[in-house]
Amino acid sequence: MADSKKTFFLTTPIYYVNARPHIGHAYSTIAADVIARRHRLLGHNTFFLTGTDEHGQKVQRSAEKAGIPPQQFADEVSGAFSGLWRRMGILDDTLSKDDPLLHRDFIRTTDARHKRGVQHLWRQLEANGAIYLSSYTGQYCVPDEAFVDVPVGADCPECGRPTETITEENYFFRLSDFQLPLLDLIESGQLHVQPDTTKNEVLSFLRGNWMPEIHKQFPAAEKHLWDLNGSRPTVEEIAQFIGCAGSEWHGDAKRSRAGNFYIPGSLKDLSISRTSFTWGIPVPGNEKHVVYVWLDALVNYMTAIGYGSDDPAEQAKFARYWPADLHLVGKEITRFHCAYWPAFLLALNPKLKHAAGEPMPRITPAEHAEWAKQWLPKSIVANGWLLFEESKMSKSRGNIVRTETILDAFGTLCPPKPNLLSSNNVPLSSSSSNSLLSSRSEAEGSASSEPPQPPTKPEQDLFASDVLRYFLLREIPFGQDGTFSFDALITRYNADLANGYGNLVSRTLGLIQQNFADGLTKPSAPWLCQDRDCWRGDNAPTKEFEARSGTHFIISETTNFAELCNEQWWPTYRFQILLAELALKISHVDAYLSFHKPWLLAKAPDDESKRKLIEVLYTAVEAIRILTAILYPVAPFATASVWRQLGLGDIEEAARNGELKDLKWGGLKPGTKLGPLSPIFPRADKGLAQIMIDMESPASATPEATPTSPAPETDQSVSSVTSVLSPSPDAPAEPAKPESPTITIDDFAKVDLRVAQILVAERIPKADKLLRLEVDLGYEKRQILAGIAEYYQPEALIGRKVVIVANLAPRKMRGLISQGMVVAASLEDHGRPALASFIEEIELGARLH
Ligand code: MSP
Repeated sequence: MADSKKTFFLTTPIYYVNARPHIGHAYSTIAADVIARRHRLLGHNTFFLTGTDEHGQKVQRSAEKAGIPPQQFADEVSGAFSGLWRRMGILDDTLSKDDPLLHRDFIRTTDARHKRGVQHLWRQLEANGAIYLSSYTGQYCVPDEAFVDVPVGADCPECGRPTETITEENYFFRLSDFQLPLLDLIESGQLHVQPDTTKNEVLSFLRGNWMPEIHKQFPAAEKHLWDLNGSRPTVEEIAQFIGCAGSEWHGDAKRSRAGNFYIPGSLKDLSISRTSFTWGIPVPGNEKHVVYVWLDALVNYMTAIGYGSDDPAEQAKFARYWPADLHLVGKEITRFHCAYWPAFLLALNPKLKHAAGEPMPRITPAEHAEWAKQWLPKSIVANGWLLFEESKMSKSRGNIVRTETILDAFGTLCPPKPNLLSSNNVPLSSSSSNSLLSSRSEAEGSASSEPPQPPTKPEQDLFASDVLRYFLLREIPFGQDGTFSFDALITRYNADLANGYGNLVSRTLGLIQQNFADGLTKPSAPWLCQDRDCWRGDNAPTKEFEARSGTHFIISETTNFAELCNEQWWPTYRFQILLAELALKISHVDAYLSFHKPWLLAKAPDDESKRKLIEVLYTAVEAIRILTAILYPVAPFATASVWRQLGLGDIEEAARNGELKDLKWGGLKPGTKLGPLSPIFPRADKGLAQIMIDMESPASATPEATPTSPAPETDQSVSSVTSVLSPSPDAPAEPAKPESPTITIDDFAKVDLRVAQILVAERIPKADKLLRLEVDLGYEKRQILAGIAEYYQPEALIGRKVVIVANLAPRKMRGLISQGMVVAASLEDHGRPALASFIEEIELGARLH
């Protein structure tokens, strides 16, 4: 592969080996793998790095507790991490190491290559005058491996756990010299920090924890005084004007280049060695000390790609990949990545060389920026936490969920593979001997007489891994905290993957297989649905609902979506929006099929029906091809299966050939013969949640919980339908008015009230009153915005059957289309809504008369 290709080097944090992996760790690694796959399909020479952080007091203590030497302890836990990433297809030893497109590595801080690199960096810093020896007395938080600025006996301000007083001779790094250069780099965006909340926290730390509210008032006060006096006010004048007092005010505040206030000298030098324990990398030249575990760990990002090596091939690798394009980190470790790490790297600049004890030479901001371009990571992006039972998943809280549980349980749903010996490529039934599978008809087709091949354990792992990948990225806005629950995992899986994507694929391909076994021809122009009610162009009368059933609508929706993914959502890591939109597109294609009923067209003898059949099936399958290509980085195993079934071969190969990036409509060649068909995502029984819960805590296992036991019904309060809940955030439900004007039966008949089930319910950023609902009407899925956010928790609504006004004209709110209204009674309690529902089991789409 030519070296001239653009490179993309991205990293995960390296995981402490004091505890075994849980899905919180998997979350960071999955996100990184998704991004890596995305860059690979763009043709970038992508290097994915993860690993384990094995030194430090915390690991040493855990090993002592386990009664084994720290190296042995680290070997075992590090093996658990790398083994898990292999099971999930994130690391793959079978891939050629010579193929630069497939580069991925797992670094351990106990690797010889890493130790050598850390010592090399230490010497460079020392030679530049950035390190000095002093003594330190202060508080240390062992769980966070961090020095904290609190009084003796106080708890850690970050994690709340007790701190320990240490008095040691330590080496210090001159962090204080880099306050302004760091502020300049982050404020100017040269060092990109995302999300803004993280960026602001880091800036606040670098500015000296300048009171944010006071900081906000400064610019307005400054403008006011400037206008009043005609000259720029001093910082003291502004402070006096807005009445800053006492601890809030630092009289010596200055401005950064971007004009923001900071307190010079508030960033203190950093202790970077320890002497009270030995489990670490010895400081070169003074082996009484070991390198501070964070300095040790951060350097992994460079030592893994050859920093500090004498080998020319390793040096070339370093030159090719450094600086890193992206460090993905958890939100609690951004200070280490956005302040300490860039400062260490800035301090390597030979222009800053000075004798220990002398002041650091002053260089211009442009000179710092120039060095930063070659040495500092380009971007640091923080993910939020995965919460379980309301708090951050962690070993010490005992609220962890192991990824292995999900792989083992969900893996049992992995569908059998099509039997390649089978002569007719009809879809195979998803029901199998496995009791966790609930039976369901996969498509309009008959089952093969050949027995399907059961999946192997590695295939089951990859299948389940896709489910977890999809769930985590679909459920949690990247950068924010999100809650994990087994129920939500199953609900989301069934809604989006089994009933949504998997069903659409099986349905469409089954029909193509039955009617065009030799390959589907391409419809002729103008690509418009010929049904009378459908949109035919600008001059035709357009009715919103009818237009949505047209071929043109599906084409433009799918291609616009592909463009938005490329231009907006992938580059900014907005996975949740991307996947929510993808699910919506899938439901539109589903509705398109339901509207045109290709199974009836197939039975009609006339040419017109045949023509329509080709158009409808080609449109659906081409949309599937594009949506599958977009889904590939998130669900590589399932999409590989779909790609084969589409007759397009190996999806990894397609990714390498650039076939997954420029997704133009019409790319599916006429006559493409489908591959053997098989189910994609069989429906999961709700009982699987209990199985996973039991697997997590065997002691509390309920013997009566069987794989097929139904999930408890959601609470369904019954209320009479007295009003229709307005979806407008500004117009909460009015109390029922007894003096309502009389209407005729014909008037009432115009209102199409239907039963629908809520599949998705989520809050909308910056819209306190609105919830975004995705509802299933049986015959189609809809998005509805409902003004009930103040009264209903989104999670509590999922699965609930409600009544909606189905024929209400769609309207746009907050940039989102709302198609219908949810019906609710308006209670006297300030108009609090109570959603209408039924005691009886009602089928979806049932009409209310
Ligand atoms: N070893 C350091 C990182 C050094 S990087 C040079 C460390 N290790 S850690 O194991 O404690 O955490 C590693 C990553 O896992 C962090 O990004 C952290 O946020 C992430 N997670 C650990 N638990 C998590 C959740 N419950 N949810 C999301 N991410 C979580 O810090």
